[in-house]
This record gives sequence, structure tokens and C-alpha cells, in this order.
Amino acid sequence: MIYLDNAATTLQKPPSVPRATAFAMTHLASPGRGGYPASAEAAQVMFQLREEAASLFGVPNPEQVILTGNATHGLNIAIHTLVRPGDPVLISGYEHNAVTRPLRAAGARIFVARSPLFHQDAAVEAFAEALHNPVAAVVCTMVSNVFGFILPIDRIAALCREKGVPLIVDASQGAGALPVDLTGWGASFVAMPGHKGLYGPQGTGLLLCGGEPAPLLYGGTGSLSRQQEMPDFLPDRLEAGTHNVCGAAGLLEGIRFIRRKTPERILRHEMHLTRRLAKALQNLPGVSVYQGANMAGVLSITAEHMDPETLGQRLTGQGIAVRAGLHCAPLAHQTAGTLETGTVRFSFSAFNRPEEADAAASAVGRILHTCAGRHAG
Ligand code: ALA
Repeated sequence: MIYLDNAATTLQKPPSVPRATAFAMTHLASPGRGGYPASAEAAQVMFQLREEAASLFGVPNPEQVILTGNATHGLNIAIHTLVRPGDPVLISGYEHNAVTRPLRAAGARIFVARSPLFHQDAAVEAFAEALHNPVAAVVCTMVSNVFGFILPIDRIAALCREKGVPLIVDASQGAGALPVDLTGWGASFVAMPGHKGLYGPQGTGLLLCGGEPAPLLYGGTGSLSRQQEMPDFLPDRLEAGTHNVCGAAGLLEGIRFIRRKTPERILRHEMHLTRRLAKALQNLPGVSVYQGANMAGVLSITAEHMDPETLGQRLTGQGIAVRAGLHCAPLAHQTAGTLETGTVRFSFSAFNRPEEADAAASAVGRILHTCAGRHAG
């Protein structure tokens, strides 16, 4: 199988990731729950994970790095902290349901800074214009999970700092390939999954806290056990219950892999593959390729005579794993004009090779050629 669904989950991991995860299952217990070696070693893994992430993501203090279950979990904490019913909240036109659904549940009045695909200047102008009105928070994704469009977070963060508006960044598709800088951005929160560009296991994520967070879960933390309120210090304030230590051990190795390889090199590699695939696909009759400047390792297409779900299924039949449909991001599809049909999405990781991009393009060509033959017949 050629795996091109890395925007959902990276499947090929550095070997150190499953090794560390499996080791943790039988050798590490719960951090902060005992003085014996298996507990102390688990605490050490958690601390190393926070340290590595803090260094990579511009976080001043490792304790501001919270282990979550995924980016959605982190976004829910951030939104729950900053948004009250009726609050106006400004978002980009490329947000995922992981942002829009918690905002809806919080009773936010959602305003969309709409801007066309692949135009960073237009995105900044849309945010600048919308920020003439007061908002309780801005939520913005770093990269569209459907189209790979890299939003100009640095500039959007500067606008938020200028206006004193709290910023929540959804780094789901950016972390591991693009610079993440909690301090430089002055962001209140940055949420990211562990299982995509950080090459960790599913069920892991990180929330970087620049602001004062409110807990979403309440329970035991191994600290201040007599007290019935959650501790007021991080990370305990947000980490109730037993930690996913096995996931954390794997995620630590994923982050170490990225730091060795560097996000810059990973991004360059993924961009190269995206451009290569786009170039091959754009020559196929009837195929629309959504491409432009400022793209990361994600590419969407539609085909004139085949709906995306069918094309996705046929690609599966040819041994190519992609994701077709709306990608949990109807707003992004609405912005790009693909809400009716959805798209077929190809997404790359550090482990993909140029031949795999070529094979995917050839498979699309074969499938559509056969279909065109049937139409003609
Ligand atoms: N948000 C993930 C994706 O884009 C699951 O596929």
C-alpha cells in the first residue's frame, strides 16, 4: 500500500516510536503516584516530553506543555476557557469541525474572516478588517487540512497582539513541519495532535498554554489530594486522571525524530512531493487540482466524471490510501467552493518517496481513463 493519508494519521513512524510505546506498557507505571522506580521513570518520560516540546515550540516553561488525547481535546480546553455564551469569536474560513463544533457548543457567535485559497495577504486583510469589531477570541488553523494552504499565523498573531485579543492556534497540520512559536506569537493556546506530524501514537496530543486555562476534566492529579478544587498550577490543573504514559513515551520519540531531522527539511520534502504530484495530475483531462502558493504537504483534487468518494475507493483498490469527502471541514470546502462534492485528498509525510507520488498520479490517470472509456462507450 502507498499511504497518502498522513493529514489524518501518519502511519509510518520512526522505529523508536513503537519501541518506546511498547516498552512503556510493561515497564512504566503512573507518574506522581508512587516513589518506586516504575513511577519515577514514567514521571521522567513525561518531563522529557514537556522539555522537548517546549524547546521545539517556543514555550518558556515545560510545565506549560499539557498532554491531551488529541488536538480536539486541546481546542476544547482552550475554547472552554476563553468563550462564554454569546461571545463573538473570529475564525478563518479554513477551520475544522474540531474548532467550529466546540465553538457552537459554547454558544459563541461565530464570525468568519473569509479569504480565497492560497492568498496569505487576503487572509491578513480579512482578519484586519474583521478585527475592527471587538471579539472574545480568534481561532485560526496553521494549515488547511483539506487544501494544504499555509495561513500566515505570524501576521494574524501580530494583529491579535495589537488588538489585545486572545489567539488560539490549531496546529494540527502545521506542527512538525512549520515553525510553532507560542511566545513569539503571544498566543493563549496552541493545540496539536501527536499522531500526525509529530509521528506519535494515536490518542496523544499537546496543548501549549500561554494563558490561564480552565480545567475541562476534574479528578485526581497525584498532588494536593486533600483539596477538592483542581490544583491552580500546570500541568496538574489540566491533567486529571491517569496519563497516557505509553502514548507519551512514543510521542517523545516522535518529537526527538523531528528535532533530529528538523521541521524545515520535513516541510521541504513534503512540498516537493506535493508539487510533483500536482504537476502530474494537472495534465490529466477533467481533473481540477487545487494548488497555489503557500502550500504544505496536502493536495486536493476533483474529477469531472467521477465523484470523490468513488475515486477514493478506486484508489484504495489500486493500493493507494487517500481520504475523500469533506474531511471534517465543511467550512473549508464552503470557502473553496467544493462543499457540494468534497475532494480527494493526498497528504504526505517525511516517509513518502517521489515514486509514490508518481504512482498515485498514474493510478488516478488509469482510473479516469477507464471511466472515460465507459462514458464514450
Ligand atoms: N482532521 C483529520 C483529517 O483531516 C482527521 O483527516
